Amino acid sequence: MEIILAPNAGFCFGVKRAIKLAEQAGNENLPYYTLGPIIHNPQVVNRLEKNGIKAVTSLEEITTGGVIIRSHGVSPEVLEEAKSRKLRVVDATCPFVRRAQELAGELTDRGYQVVVVGDRSHPEVIGIVGWTGSRAIVVENAREAEKLGYYPQIGVIAQTTQSEQNFRQVVEVLKKKSKNLVVHNTICHATRQRQQAAAELARKVDLMIVVGGKESANTRKLARICSETGTPTYHIERADELCASWLQNKERVGVTAGASTPDWIIEEVVTRMTEIKQEEQKNAEEIQPVAE
Ligand code: F3S
Repeated sequence: MEIILAPNAGFCFGVKRAIKLAEQAGNENLPYYTLGPIIHNPQVVNRLEKNGIKAVTSLEEITTGGVIIRSHGVSPEVLEEAKSRKLRVVDATCPFVRRAQELAGELTDRGYQVVVVGDRSHPEVIGIVGWTGSRAIVVENAREAEKLGYYPQIGVIAQTTQSEQNFRQVVEVLKKKSKNLVVHNTICHATRQRQQAAAELARKVDLMIVVGGKESANTRKLARICSETGTPTYHIERADELCASWLQNKERVGVTAGASTPDWIIEEVVTRMTEIKQEEQKNAEEIQPVAE
């Protein structure tokens, strides 16, 4: 069995940067907290916690010390509140997310109705909407865009981890909803490259394994893209979730991973797959009929 690792699998630039900033903060003599898990990967979150950086769900849980804003970013109100609580702020918002926030804010100031294409419950989208004074409308897909009314000016922004196809479909619908449509494709390069590479690989293999947190939106999207190619696809978080039966009679297996999956977890998955195949081979040899 051949195992092929997709190019661009695993940690993206923004996640690496956020983790590095959090680790640097951990070296300071100050209690630090992340607003929400730094990334959607329980193993990394546990490791940071061992270094004294705890994830909290709201600023109200922090009485002293500092707060680390994760790569998803937050609304200006949250930043203001952190400052008014006299907390030290380490802003690890990914620069690509920052760009989407700024564009959303600028378009709103210029009188555009901002439409964000993304998952409305995702923290990144909630943050971007915050930069428009909560005036932006979020649509998840073309079906939802169809329901929008007419606006003289519309500005479209994408959640950085959206799929190109979904974004394009929404833009097509919005062309009918305004005479003046401004489109900012803010899908980040890392996402675009990872999704393209995963789809290309999925078309060439018999099975795809997508590694990443079950709560990670970009990993789930990656799994959907792979599965849409028609290749059987499994989304796992850890190597011990692999089932030997998935690998049976498979000649080529592709592996990819979301932006929040550390390299060591990808390596564990590849190693476990190799072990499963070796065990299978050994068992097959053991049950060979004895030559007469
Ligand atoms: Fe940033 Fe793109 Fe990663 S927006 S956090 S580099 S997926």
